[in-house]
Amino acid sequence: MLLAESLKSCRAETLALFTPVEDAIFCRQLHPEFSPVGWHLGHIAFTEAYWILEQLQGFKPIFSEYRQLFAADGLPKTERQKLPSFQIIQEYLQVVRDQVLEYLEIAPIEEQERLWWWLIQHETQHQETIALLLQLSRFQSGNFPKISRNPMRATSSQSSAMITIPPGEFLMGCDRLQAQDNERTTQKIYLDFYQIDTYPVTCRDYQRFIEKGGYDNANYWSEEGWQWKQKNLITQPLYWIVSEERADHPVYGVSWYEAQAYAKFIGKRLPTEAEWEKAASWDEENQQQRLYPWGENLPDITRCNYSNQIGQTTPVNSYLQGKSAYGCWDMLGNVWEWTDSWFCPYPHFQPYPYPGYSQIYFDQQHRVLRGGSWATGTWGLRNSFRNWYHPWVRQILAGFRCAI
Ligand code: AVJ
Ligand code: FE
Repeated sequence: MLLAESLKSCRAETLALFTPVEDAIFCRQLHPEFSPVGWHLGHIAFTEAYWILEQLQGFKPIFSEYRQLFAADGLPKTERQKLPSFQIIQEYLQVVRDQVLEYLEIAPIEEQERLWWWLIQHETQHQETIALLLQLSRFQSGNFPKISRNPMRATSSQSSAMITIPPGEFLMGCDRLQAQDNERTTQKIYLDFYQIDTYPVTCRDYQRFIEKGGYDNANYWSEEGWQWKQKNLITQPLYWIVSEERADHPVYGVSWYEAQAYAKFIGKRLPTEAEWEKAASWDEENQQQRLYPWGENLPDITRCNYSNQIGQTTPVNSYLQGKSAYGCWDMLGNVWEWTDSWFCPYPHFQPYPYPGYSQIYFDQQHRVLRGGSWATGTWGLRNSFRNWYHPWVRQILAGFRCAI
């Protein structure tokens, strides 16, 4: 059964992240915006127990002492460092999971399937946060992964290539069972003619911005972005390593402010999320929406860099088979892409499964990211999937591409 299989493979990916995690890192808050990796692991178990065992099955809370510690509205982020050991949390996960799988055998799935899929995607999202925090800790200790020379390389002229998207309507959003509340409902959107980068902005591209004084010239920056940059003494992306081997990898570890400044420097702008989604999903010839840039088949390693299988970025022209109908590369996986759009509800939005999942972030303070990263699992990857963060966050695995 697809649900049971997906629950299991998702969990295997979560646990695989922890093979090498030291106790000191397990409990540490590596950055004020994020909880310790160990907290995320416990929160995955808590969420599963809460929605499946308590809400669906009607059980009393098991491990009720964990509610305060592992609920999202329990303790403030700074007070989440006193954690049970990895072993204890793993047992917690296992006890919950055993009961959940037992229930799955008899559950009225037709009525519940949406919630089960939501839960898998919830774990996928925390999986990614764990992966990015582990990368942050490696980076802080100077232990950044080496990369081997890759024979597939873009030339600098290729990396400035753009695709022309003709004017017309397309179908935006998603109302399949798997779609999150914020992806619903689908709507017809008319977009005028525009151009969008064929590839994400590479390290080679971005290095020119740095060399040409991009970080010293207020003209490229929004007022808010400039203030943020000055205050935090930002002079380069967070995960910035100059090397020939990385030249064709996408730049990442940039805030929305940096992405916006680069776009202005190069005489372009960031795409709106509608522009991004049309370029990724619309099959103009058949007037059809695609779930993935390449069509309907689930992601695999010939189509994109995802699910932490490589553990870092890859050159932006590595996945010929992952191209969208319009010819954009790397729309899914590798790095998230900042868009110009605020995170807002689509028409007829209904919060699910609780207002705190999406609705409380419709506050004109969060920018939308699209496309997933090298650490995004299968269930967090699709053309319509929306992620959101404050514009100053740069620890996430985010780059961008530009539009005109
Ligand atoms: C959309 C990734 C910002 O991690 O806080 C996880 C996703 N929501 N649990 C987050 C989420 C509830 C959310 N992000
Ligand atoms: Fe959560």
